[in-house]
Amino acid sequence: MSRIVYVNGEYLPEEEAKVSVFDRGFLFADGVYEVTSVLDGKLIDFDGHAKRLERSLGELEMESPVTAEALLEIHRELVARNGIDEGLVYLQITRGAADRDFAYPEAAEPTIVLFTQAKPGLADSAASRKGIKVISIPDIRWGRRDIKTVQLLYPSMGKMAAKKAGADDAWMIEDGEVTEGTSNNAYIVKGRTIVTRHLGTEILHGITRAAVLRFAREAQMEVEERAFTIEEAKSADEAFITSASSFVMPVVEIDGQSLGTGAPGPVATRLREIYLDEMRKAAV
Ligand code: PDD
Repeated sequence: MSRIVYVNGEYLPEEEAKVSVFDRGFLFADGVYEVTSVLDGKLIDFDGHAKRLERSLGELEMESPVTAEALLEIHRELVARNGIDEGLVYLQITRGAADRDFAYPEAAEPTIVLFTQAKPGLADSAASRKGIKVISIPDIRWGRRDIKTVQLLYPSMGKMAAKKAGADDAWMIEDGEVTEGTSNNAYIVKGRTIVTRHLGTEILHGITRAAVLRFAREAQMEVEERAFTIEEAKSADEAFITSASSFVMPVVEIDGQSLGTGAPGPVATRLREIYLDEMRKAAV
């Protein structure tokens, strides 16, 4: 069955959906995106994603072609039309099509594209029961990682390096310190304390991160928002990542070194449960 996607005001079968070869998203990676998860046919933390989208657009002096209310309707319509019970909604807005020039065009209509990805078993995944393995790689990305742009070549290369090394993902290192995973935020647990890098321009301000830290504090867990080194990570009791597509995912190995017992730790396991319970309740 062909997916129904949304392109610039129209719902179309994916084969019929088209964007211009002059689109600046294609030519310059001049665009931003969001990924929102769907559980029980409902959107998880839609407001968080809509707010970050607005911020990303603002930082790049781009206008949204639709209001936040319309965006919610489009998300819901796509979930319904594609019968998504568990999965993801991908949204991308670019500066639009214009003759190739590095300067922003004076008058280009932004391009907006949304599509769904069905992911049965997203919440109850085998990976979450087993935990994932990560390797470390240098972080050579640009300096505005807080803007969720579609420049994803280096994260793609990182994922491939991990695959080649027999791992699942890569954590990126800058000045000896972990910034984040290729498409997720990174955490370690030492004793009863959860440590994750502070917000800044060096990392994406994860929507899942914000919710997970709130739930952790509500559950009286200690949270430290500070940078940590890869050595500190390797000697941690446990580790995990968060993102809209993985929720809270335990990490059981870093650069070939097992953490703790080599199985998902209690803090990551508990936080995943709390996150999924609470977010299902608040889903729209
Ligand atoms: N990635 N850091 C990076 C570099 C990311 O790309 C992402 C999300 C995150 C986690 O953010 P959030 O919790 O808001 O999903 C952190 C999405 C899922 C992706 O690119 O598919």
